[in-house]
Amino acid sequence: MIHDFKLPENFLWGAAISANQAEGAFQEDGRGISNIDLIPHGQQRMAVKLGNITHPKILSSEYYPSHDGIDFYHRYKEDIALMAELGLKVFRTSISWSRLFPNGDEREANPKGIAFYQNVFTECKKYGIEPLVTLCHFDIPMGLIIKYGSWRNRKVIDCFVRYADTCFREFSGLVKYWLTFNEINIVLHSPFSGAGIAFEEGENKNQTIYQAAHHMLLASAMAVKLAHRYSADNQIGCMLAGGSFYPYSCNPLDVWESVKKEQENLFFIDVQARGHYPSYAKKLFAEKGVHLIIEDGDLDTLKTTVDFISFSYYASRCVSSDINNKVINDGNVVRSVENPYLQASDWGWVIDPLGLRITMNQLYDRYQKPLFLVENGLGAKDVVEENGDIFDSYRIDYLKRHIEAMKDAVEDGVELMGYIAWSCLDLVSASTGEMSKRYGFIYVDKEDNGSGTFSRKKKKSFYWYQKVIRSNGTVLDI
Ligand code: BG6
Repeated sequence: MIHDFKLPENFLWGAAISANQAEGAFQEDGRGISNIDLIPHGQQRMAVKLGNITHPKILSSEYYPSHDGIDFYHRYKEDIALMAELGLKVFRTSISWSRLFPNGDEREANPKGIAFYQNVFTECKKYGIEPLVTLCHFDIPMGLIIKYGSWRNRKVIDCFVRYADTCFREFSGLVKYWLTFNEINIVLHSPFSGAGIAFEEGENKNQTIYQAAHHMLLASAMAVKLAHRYSADNQIGCMLAGGSFYPYSCNPLDVWESVKKEQENLFFIDVQARGHYPSYAKKLFAEKGVHLIIEDGDLDTLKTTVDFISFSYYASRCVSSDINNKVINDGNVVRSVENPYLQASDWGWVIDPLGLRITMNQLYDRYQKPLFLVENGLGAKDVVEENGDIFDSYRIDYLKRHIEAMKDAVEDGVELMGYIAWSCLDLVSASTGEMSKRYGFIYVDKEDNGSGTFSRKKKKSFYWYQKVIRSNGTVLDI
């Protein structure tokens, strides 16, 4: 089929990393320890991530991949030069909160932390690359977790607002695209990595999670207001771990299950995009035994809504009212039943380009605000040939099919600001802590156990994406 649909000229092509998966230098220049620094690579990883270890500690017997990341902290100039060669218009990264506020609740920010990010963003500007910055990408200072129990305590809202205020002031003129919380809905599935929440024995988990989320939503709305106060140029969005929940069959029971799962998943961005709790909140709270403590003024605060809806898309999900005799796909943190129509990656994440078009149409129909696809990519094992080449044609194939589906969605009428691939460079996997689950256009010589030279190498997909960007998405073949 000839497909001559053209994306708008100002379409924002980009690629992403996050501070916690890339920077390393976890104790350098005054940075404080954050939740991610306590999540080991080994067997305890899941228990810590899920918040099932009440007081996690750094143990000398474990390896913690965030401690050295991919050493972006020291190599950012070399990396940004490669991004410029790739042709990126946008570079998405996040700020490590504990680099600016080592314990999270200081009155003044750490000047060395500010200087680092000013240098990074200035380097981007030198090449005409626009930064897109997430304030909180799975990265909470341990000081706030130890002292206040993280987001379960309202005091953390003030700390976050001070941190956001510092960012808008110190990086003004350098950054205009912002996101508040990365994949805010992941707090439901991975509470410690998502929101710094480790549970006490016998605690009502749902109560803690939704109360913490209420505080995060307030903090997010306050940050949006502040961003607008600092500059009319600032555009600030929410961020969803996207992917529609298909019903396993047309049995109305399955369809109803999918409606409920969609509501649970979109709950947080419903608030961020519409400025109030959704109509189904009361029932959802009752079913989950949640009694939300809402203080005077909170509902007014929530009325400040985001400018755009950003989301990640890797896979669709599938749900059934009866999971007996169904294969469960728990390759991803969001549980799903196996969809017999789809193939999966080596890590069990289903590959569903049409699902991206479906998700985009659903999100745009629901919110009628511009969308921004800020993560999409394939985690795969790469092989470095003897001559140093890396032929990652599987990654190109995945990205190509998803970009086509994205273009179809734009042609359907969806307003889309840009496409950001995950990831720019190989980095530490958020779910598994592995390096071998590689996403980048740029290979990083580091193994799962932390060994390697950390040197960078362009993959075949680097040259392919360069052509995609140059042609504004019209040349997608290899
Ligand atoms: C998203 C996160 O969930 O998916 C990223 O925002 C993460 O931080 C990405 O890396 C891919 O997931 P994973 O677990 O394969 O690294």
